[in-house]
Amino acid sequence: MRARDGYQHFELDRHPFDIVGWDGYVYPYTFNADDFEPRAGRFHLPPPAHQTFQGQGFVICTFAPRMLDWDAEAVPLPYHHSNIQSEEVMFYAAGDYAARKGVEVGCVTLHPSGLPHGPQPGAVEKALGKTSTDELAVMWDTFRPLRLSTLWRETDKPEYALSWNPDRALAT
Ligand SMILES: [Fe+2]
Repeated sequence: MRARDGYQHFELDRHPFDIVGWDGYVYPYTFNADDFEPRAGRFHLPPPAHQTFQGQGFVICTFAPRMLDWDAEAVPLPYHHSNIQSEEVMFYAAGDYAARKGVEVGCVTLHPSGLPHGPQPGAVEKALGKTSTDELAVMWDTFRPLRLSTLWRETDKPEYALSWNPDRALAT
């Protein structure tokens, strides 16, 4: 292996891909989110605290059931932000993801690079005083733009994009 300006020699007792589940793809790992020990903090920990994988051009974060921020002044939800250098995709696997209205278990959201987002109106007030969350969500951020296939039209929920502005919400 290349290490700084030289090489280091490693000998493994078996091929690194010779594991249960390897089917020839380039991501031979499985990860059981139930085995993940999430971190918690007195104040909100940003997503890198929940990062479980990193590859060339992407990161994966696992938001698992955990204690919420315990300071008396803490707001136990993510702050509003624009991920200006990445596309943000979230899959909501289980539990109640309090920071997002309009999503349920099984949903996938895409927040394109530069789009401001965060808790919708009312979510912060609802979350104040909560001490734990049962959410299980997986986020992957890519550092190159994603393009939607035409299949998105079949599952799109156009009301989600307007859920930050109740005045513009679509009639359902
Ligand atoms: Fe985000």
